[in-house]
Amino acid sequence: MSSKDSGRVALVTGASRGIGYGIARALVARGDRVCLTGRNEEPLKEAVAELGADRATYVAGKAHDEEHQARAVEHVISEYGRVDHLVNNAGTNPVFGPIADADLGVARKVFETNVISALGFAQKTWAAWQRDNGGTIVNVASVAGISASPFVGPYGISKAAMINLTLQLAHEMAPGVRVNAIAPAVVKTKFAAALYEGREEEAQNGYPLGRLGVPQDIGGAVAFLTSEDSGWITGQTLVIDGGLFLNAGVA
Ligand SMILES: NC(=O)c1ccc[n+]([C@@H]2O[C@H](COP(=O)([O-])OP(=O)(O)OC[C@H]3O[C@@H](n4cnc5c(N)ncnc54)[C@H](OP(=O)(O)O)[C@@H]3O)[C@@H](O)[C@H]2O)c1
Repeated sequence: MSSKDSGRVALVTGASRGIGYGIARALVARGDRVCLTGRNEEPLKEAVAELGADRATYVAGKAHDEEHQARAVEHVISEYGRVDHLVNNAGTNPVFGPIADADLGVARKVFETNVISALGFAQKTWAAWQRDNGGTIVNVASVAGISASPFVGPYGISKAAMINLTLQLAHEMAPGVRVNAIAPAVVKTKFAAALYEGREEEAQNGYPLGRLGVPQDIGGAVAFLTSEDSGWITGQTLVIDGGLFLNAGVA
């Protein structure tokens, strides 16, 4: 896919499709090598084949599983000798409904998959490489972590926590490691399909830029946050929303 070689290596969780794959694609295009994770092996194999087997590798497993986290970090180090960038992208939202009725077991699971897993990956990447060599982390949050999004309460709470996790890591891991988050609005992926499929015209009406997001919109932003061009930016959350938040005014 790319003949460039940056000499840098990224671990991107949840990257066999959707936003994670879009991020991996952007990083490979600028010359990085990438390690993808996801639960299912077949789509990971296909993603690696598309990116180029000389540029990408994968480890299958569940993001919240500490043993999987350790295996993924060990694999990327043994394969490429370093792990400069960690992108905590794997996330879930298994339930829609009023927060008053939210199943607490499900809410715990959402928190575990979306937030605790990101902390686990950050700790392991730090210990294996970033503490001594520096690097960057990008956490994939959501506009749902910044503003109320009815009927996805546990998800929004977890994404708000992801933003605070970003602040904590950015402070404690400076100056060697820069840590930022991104907060996308609706991006056209399998995960978000229920929010726009069959009614895309209507769904995109609220977006001043006139369309929903696509994974390429996110890949470019993460490429920036993991590059020297953002060398004095840490602890920030970049909203990527096609202007959606511009609607929050009074008129
Ligand atoms: N799409 C949006 O509108 C939107 C907006 C804001 C934020 N986000 C966030 O962006 C991230 C990616 O979402 P997406 O829309 O790209 O979703 P997607 O298209 O469904 O892709 C999710 C990816 O993560 C993997 N995955 C799912 N659960 C996992 C788990 N427990 N452990 C490891 N890997 C897992 C999936 O592969 P397997 O199924 O094989 O595991 C797949 O590769 C999520 O954190 C989501 O909250 C999405």
